[in-house]
Amino acid sequence: MKFGTFDDQSREYVITRPDTPLPWINYLGCQEYFGIISNTAGGYSFYRDAKLRRLTRYRYNNVPMDSGGRYIYLRDGESGRFWSPSWQPTRHAAENYSCRHGLGYSVIGSDYDGIRAHTRYFVPLDENLEIWQLTVLNLHPAKARISAFANIEFCLWDAQDDATNFQRNFNTGQVEVEDGVIYHKTEYRERRNHFAYFACSEKASAFETRRDAFLGPYRGWDRPAAVEAGQLSSGIAHGWSPIGAHQVDLELEPGETRQIVFLLGYHENPEDQKFDPPGSQTINKSLVKPTIAKYLNAGQADQAFARLGSYWDGLLNIFQVDTPDIHTNRMVNIWNAYQCMATFNLSRSASFYESGIGRGLGFRDSNQDLLGFVHMAPARARERILDLASTQLPTGGAYHQYQPLTKRGNNDIGSGFNDDPHWLIVGVSAYLKETGDWTILDEPVPYDNAPGSETPLYEHLERSFNYTLSRLGPHGLPLIGRADWNDCLNLNCFSSTPGQSFQTTTNKDGKVAESVFIAGLFVHSGRELAAIASRRGLNADAASYLAEVAKMESVILEHGWDGDWFLRAYNDFGGKIGSKECEEGKIFIESNGYCTLAGIGLNDGKALSALAAVGEHLATRHGIVVQQPAYSHYYLEMGEISSYPPGYKENAGIFCHVNPWVMIGETRLGHGDRAHDYYTRINPSAREEISELHRCEPYVYAQMIAGKDAPTFGEAKNSWLTGTAAWNYYAIVQWILGVRTTLDGLEIAPVIPASWRGFTATRIFRGVAYKISIERKGPGNQIALTVDGAPIEGNVVAPPADGRKEVTVKGVLS
Ligand code: BGC
Ligand code: NOJ
Repeated sequence: MKFGTFDDQSREYVITRPDTPLPWINYLGCQEYFGIISNTAGGYSFYRDAKLRRLTRYRYNNVPMDSGGRYIYLRDGESGRFWSPSWQPTRHAAENYSCRHGLGYSVIGSDYDGIRAHTRYFVPLDENLEIWQLTVLNLHPAKARISAFANIEFCLWDAQDDATNFQRNFNTGQVEVEDGVIYHKTEYRERRNHFAYFACSEKASAFETRRDAFLGPYRGWDRPAAVEAGQLSSGIAHGWSPIGAHQVDLELEPGETRQIVFLLGYHENPEDQKFDPPGSQTINKSLVKPTIAKYLNAGQADQAFARLGSYWDGLLNIFQVDTPDIHTNRMVNIWNAYQCMATFNLSRSASFYESGIGRGLGFRDSNQDLLGFVHMAPARARERILDLASTQLPTGGAYHQYQPLTKRGNNDIGSGFNDDPHWLIVGVSAYLKETGDWTILDEPVPYDNAPGSETPLYEHLERSFNYTLSRLGPHGLPLIGRADWNDCLNLNCFSSTPGQSFQTTTNKDGKVAESVFIAGLFVHSGRELAAIASRRGLNADAASYLAEVAKMESVILEHGWDGDWFLRAYNDFGGKIGSKECEEGKIFIESNGYCTLAGIGLNDGKALSALAAVGEHLATRHGIVVQQPAYSHYYLEMGEISSYPPGYKENAGIFCHVNPWVMIGETRLGHGDRAHDYYTRINPSAREEISELHRCEPYVYAQMIAGKDAPTFGEAKNSWLTGTAAWNYYAIVQWILGVRTTLDGLEIAPVIPASWRGFTATRIFRGVAYKISIERKGPGNQIALTVDGAPIEGNVVAPPADGRKEVTVKGVLS
C-alpha cells in the first residue's frame, strides 16, 4: 500500500494521505538555519545546533505523534468552523490533501468547506529564516470571511534544559511585539545576543504570545480556545511558555486567491548593539528589520524560492543517470543524493529518531558521509576533513565524536574505537579522487586542537595507519578497542550494571579481542594510502604501506578465515566470533563485506565463497542481516549487540549501511545481477508499494530494517541520518554503474545486470562534463571505451589535456 507517489519531473514526493504510518519528514535549510518538517507541518527549527539554539519546541515520542509544528488554522467567519489545511493538528477530514516534499521545501495543503489552502515552507539561501507562503482560494460561489491563524511555540533555546528545568524556565520567558512582529527574547537580557522573530505580511488584526491564552485550559493544539472563539487577544507573555500567533482576517470574493507570507527567523546582534536605546532592555531591531521587510514581500519570497531551486538543481546535475530501472534513476538522480547532503548538513543530530540533543559529529560517520557528498560540496568537504583531522589524537587515534559548535573532541565519549582512524584515510582519499586537490595533504593540522602541534595532513594519515600497527593482538589482527564499525560489538565492556553505556564502559585491558573487520579496513585504507604516497613520489612510504598490507592480508587468510567465510572477531577469551564453531553469531556481514570490498580472497576463491555464504545465510528478501543466528540472550562478553531482541538493530537487523559492502564485493566478483538485486532489496523507492510494512519514508534510506528473526520483519526505522545514504550512493554510482573517481581520472567500469541494454549518464568531474553512454553487446563486464570517438587503452578517462569542457565517452560491454 502506498501513501503517495513520486513526481520525478518536479523532484518531489507527493504524499496524498496525511495519516502516514510515521511522520514522513523533510529538511528545510542547508547552511546554518535548519528545520525538520513532517508531512502534516510538524517539526521544529534551529540555528546551527539543534540542542543549543532551538527556536521552536517539539515533543518527541508524544501522543498523538508529531506534536508541535508550523501550524496554520483557518476559520470560517459564518459557520465558526475551523480546521488546519495541513491536517494536523485539527485532523479534519479535508479533501485533496497533499504534501509535496521537494528539495529544501515542502508544500502542504488541502480543501475544506469550500476553501482551498496550501502553504509553501522553505529557507532562503544565505538567510537565517524560514518563509511560509500561505495561499487561500475561495471556491464558494459566495463571498467568504476567513480568519487565518499562524502559530509557533518558542523553545527557550537549550532544548534539553527547556524540556526539564521548569522551576527556572517558567519564569524566564520574554517577548516584545513591535509593528506586528513578535520577538522572542528569553535570556536576551543576560548572556544571549540572539532572538527569534515571527512576522506576517498582512496587517494582523490581533496576535497572541501567551500559550495559555491561545489554547485555553486543558486543550491541545487541535482545539485552541482562541481559534474556536475566532479572536486572539494580543496578550504579552510573562514567563511560562511564550508562543507566536498572528490572526489575519480575510474577505474573499468567489474565486479569489490571497497570499500571506509568514516569517520565522533568528537574528544575532553585535554584543555592543543589543539594546535600543542603549541602556534600555528593548531589543535593537534596526539590523534585522530590512531582512524582515524584504522577505515579507511575496515577490522577494518567490525569487528566493527560485534561487533555492537552482542551487539544488546545480548540485544534483553533477551526476545524472538514465538506466532501465526507475528506482535506480530516482534514487541516484534525486533522493539519495539529497539524503547525502542531509547527512552532511546534520550529521546524526536532528531527525525523527535523533532528538537533536544527543550526539556530536561522529569521526567515523562524518568521514564516511564524504563518500556521498564530496562531488556536490568539495569545498565544504575540505573544511570538514580539516576539522575532523584537527581532533585526531597524537597517537593517531580519534575522539569518537566532536561537537560542531566548538569543533573540539568530545571527552565524555572519548576514543578507542579502533576503526576510527582509518576512515580519515578513506575520506581524504575520496576527496583527492574527486577534486585532484593535492594541496590538502600539505595543510598544517593540529592534534587534539592543540596549537603548536600541527603537522601536514599527510602525517595524520600515516599516524592513522600506524595506530593499528601498534595495536595488534595475539593473532596479529587489529585489537578492537571499545568497538569497531559495529558500535555494539563491545568485546572489552563486560557490563552488568543497568544503564551503563556499552560504548564507554571498559572492564578489560583490551589486549586480546581482535577484529577481522578492522583488518579488512586496514588492507583497504593501506592501499589507498600507498596510492596517495606513490603519486606524491614517496615510493619508500608506499612500499612500506604495501608490505604491511600484504602481511595483514596473510594474517587474515590464516587467522581470519573460517573455512567458508571470514571470521568476525576474537573475543576477550581468544574465542572465535562469527565462526561455524559458535552456537549463535556464526557468520557476520561486516568482515565478509569489507574483506571482499578490499579485494581480499579475490584470486583464491575465498571472496567468492564468503559472499556465497552471505547469500545463503544472511540475505533475505528485505536485505542482508548483520549476522546469523541472532543472539537469543544477553552475553556479557559481547556487549550491546546482544542487548537487542533478535532481528533488531545490530542483533541480526538489516543494517542498510553495510549492505553496500556486499554489493561492492559482488561487483568485484563481476556479479552485476547479484549486486543490483541486493541494491534493489533495500532501495526505498522499490519498497514504496509495501509502505504499510516498511513504515518509513519511501524516498530516503532508513538505517535499519527489521531482520527475519523479528516479529516485524521488513519494518524500517531510523530514516534519514545514517551512513546508509553515502554507502548506497557510492555502491550504485561508483561500483554498479561503475562511474568511478580515481586519482588519475574518471574510471568507467560498469558491473550492471545482464538484462540491461546499457545506460547513459552525465558527470561533471573536475570542471569537465562527461557525457557517458554504455551499450551492452555481450553479457559480461569487459569494456571498450572511446573518448570523443577515439578508442582509449584501459578504462580510465584522463582529464582532457587541451582544456575541453565537454567529453563524450562511449563504452561497449561484451
Ligand atoms: C546503536 C548504534 C549506534 C550507537 C552509538 C547504539 O545504541 O545501536 O547503532 O552506533 O548507539 O550511537
Ligand atoms: C550507527 C553509528 O552512527 C555508526 O557509526 C555505526 O557504525 C553503526 N551505528 C553500527 O553500529
